[in-house]
Amino acid sequence: MGASRGEFSSRIGFIMAAAGSAVGLGNIWGFPTQTASNGGAAFVLVYFVLAFCLAYPAFMAEILIGRYGQANAVTSLQKMSRTVLQKRFAFVVGFGGIICAAMILSFYGILAGWMMSFAIEPVANIMGQEWIAQWVVGQSLGRNLLFTVLFMFLTIIIIRKGVEQGIEKWSKRLMPMMIGLLILLIVYVLTLDGASEGLNAYLNPDISRVLEPNLLVSALGQAFFSLSLGTSVMVIYGSYISKKENMVTIGAQVTLIDVSIAFLAGLLIIPSMYVAQAQGLKIFADDGSLIAGPSLVFEVLPTLFDSMGTMGLFVGFAFFVLMSIAALTSSISMLEGPVSYAVERHSVARETATTWIGFGILALSVTIVVNIEFMLDLVATVSTQYGQPIIAMLCCVFGGWIWHRSSLLAEIKLGNEGVENSLFWKIWPWYIKFICPVAIGAVFIHSLL
Ligand code: PFF
Repeated sequence: MGASRGEFSSRIGFIMAAAGSAVGLGNIWGFPTQTASNGGAAFVLVYFVLAFCLAYPAFMAEILIGRYGQANAVTSLQKMSRTVLQKRFAFVVGFGGIICAAMILSFYGILAGWMMSFAIEPVANIMGQEWIAQWVVGQSLGRNLLFTVLFMFLTIIIIRKGVEQGIEKWSKRLMPMMIGLLILLIVYVLTLDGASEGLNAYLNPDISRVLEPNLLVSALGQAFFSLSLGTSVMVIYGSYISKKENMVTIGAQVTLIDVSIAFLAGLLIIPSMYVAQAQGLKIFADDGSLIAGPSLVFEVLPTLFDSMGTMGLFVGFAFFVLMSIAALTSSISMLEGPVSYAVERHSVARETATTWIGFGILALSVTIVVNIEFMLDLVATVSTQYGQPIIAMLCCVFGGWIWHRSSLLAEIKLGNEGVENSLFWKIWPWYIKFICPVAIGAVFIHSLL
């Protein structure tokens, strides 16, 4: 079955695809922004702890469920269910994840479109087309529609090509390009005046803030968003991994890449803000906190690039291309969730399913663009603050309580004969049964209060 439904051709193919899904606007925009608004290094520290102690185990649950089931999220969860009630529950969780992925894609495509439009600005300037340069960075309905459509088309084109020729091939091309660009930009920014003050703010934690409840909630939400949890995406990517692979190591590698890239992005953005300050720009809001949110990426940084003269055109272009690539490797994973479901459960051809589902999600994006003030935040909140933690928690419940323990252990052992002596073997099954659901639930309830 594996070969006919598509499979990653190599371990590196899976790592690049899963890391491509994980690394996105969440890492390069969300993480530095959250760091800026949550006390700098204290947030970084808490994020690392939560990413490895809570998000990684939950991530393992999702990719193992997928590899065991060798199918889309609903079918995979149903394969481990024994009673009719469990099968219904499996449907709700699996389908809930698919809806969540579709909702995230509908607003993510708009943000990614902005990244593409900001990448066009320096090109238009170099070509002397000033009116285009101004139009692409101005908030207008036409600009938002055009770039959302363009971005969604790119996503649809890649997913139509399937697992190996689409997801794997493009992730393997785009991820190294993105990492290279990121490192080049960091090296450049760190040579500028003011960068060392930024490094200091980024790397010296104020330990007293580490246990602030709001900081914990934001860090956990960020870690879940970043690892694409609770969206069916990691279940379906897990289902494309060969049974010969060692899942424990692969999962740890993907988490490490994801966390490292968030860390690197902070190393670029926070020092850039202090460089901007050294050049006379305002980087603190009236209440004394660092400017965060959209104004950081769409105002502070572009003004900084402008102040660099001709060099700034290239730096600005590289930065927004980096953002667009990161977004694309994530958006393809979001579309794969619903597409794999339609292909496998309803026997629709991949091209047809991709086109219809892609256009359906695009229609939702257009509705959001037209009602941007009120819908953008709403769809983002429902899908990321409610949907993702609930579905991720339920996947842990599945792994811990419904999946038969002996078959779960057998799945971990495939491709990893020596695992019985490892800490993972001893702790993880118990961990996802008790610690993960309780901790995720507690943080979720707190976030509602
Ligand atoms: N992990 C992506 C990021 O950090 O930008 C976002 C994401 C991708 C969320 C895929 C959900 C998803 F299913």
